[in-house]
Amino acid sequence: MSHPKRFCLAGVMGLPVLHSRSPRLHNHWFGEAGMSGAYVPLEITPERLEAALRALPALGFAGCNLTIPHKVAAMAMVDEVDETARRIGAINCIVVRPDGQLHATNYDGFGFVESLVEAAPDWRADAGPAVVLGAGGGARAVVVGLADRGAKEIRVINRTHGRALDLAADLGDPVVALPWEARGEALADAATLVNTTSLGMEGQPELAMDLGRLRGDALVSDIVYIPRETRLLAAARARGNRTVNGLGMLIHQARPAFRDWFGVMPQATPALRAMIEATL
Ligand SMILES: NC(=O)c1ccc[n+]([C@@H]2O[C@H](COP(=O)([O-])OP(=O)(O)OC[C@H]3O[C@@H](n4cnc5c(N)ncnc54)[C@H](OP(=O)(O)O)[C@@H]3O)[C@@H](O)[C@H]2O)c1
Repeated sequence: MSHPKRFCLAGVMGLPVLHSRSPRLHNHWFGEAGMSGAYVPLEITPERLEAALRALPALGFAGCNLTIPHKVAAMAMVDEVDETARRIGAINCIVVRPDGQLHATNYDGFGFVESLVEAAPDWRADAGPAVVLGAGGGARAVVVGLADRGAKEIRVINRTHGRALDLAADLGDPVVALPWEARGEALADAATLVNTTSLGMEGQPELAMDLGRLRGDALVSDIVYIPRETRLLAAARARGNRTVNGLGMLIHQARPAFRDWFGVMPQATPALRAMIEATL
């Protein structure tokens, strides 16, 4: 429910945190919904994370988001972690319950899948195998999002193969781990390709990837959003594949958090996207 007589408070805890776009998103939605509130960046060191989390109820916060480096450590500091966050192995959203208990979840996988559906409404997770490059935190969220959406086979391919094997062992069916060298062949019948490595991000090396075997109707996504079009997305677009960058994931993971805190499910409008893009 919304709180017309209450000043709504939420924030993001991280270190560093000033680069976060989340305050712009949530403060835009307060304005749009005619609510009084503020979403603030909270620079919190790891040693003070637990004290900061426990202060949320006393300060009147509805909850908070967590970003680097707190997403995993905070799991042991809250009262309840839901199944989605446990499968991903990290939390990105905490809701303060009426009794002051801290309930944690992770909306990154939801945000990723929503971003695909927004860009390509006819995309289906079960249209064919998905190839996911990377096995870090972003990959785990993407894989859980795809599996929950009905993907029948998810091929996880990572430079450090052991991490891909761990991810497959943790999440079980429908995840299989393939070696990094097999990434070109693994595309053969894939309907979805996702880069979750940091390769291609501003300041990082480029991803070397041969798209020759990719189906013409496959959807290609990169969860990186700086630059807006990575070399992978440019190459996919040039051969006629539909492409989706990581900005939608960032925007869509924030929507259910705002809903959980303030009772209103906000929308990802073109104006909001343009406002965030202007800051990149
Ligand atoms: N759009 C969004 O909302 C969103 C959300 C989360 C993350 N992201 C982005 O996703 C990217 C990854 O984030 P993360 O949290 O998953 O990071 P992470 O947990 O540190 O994982 C990094 C991944 O990149 C791989 N990698 C790094 N350097 C590589 C190289 N030179 N060659 C091959 N693979 C390499 C790593 O492979 P190894 O295991 O071999 O090291 C690992 O799979 C970042 O660019 C981040 O900004 C975007």
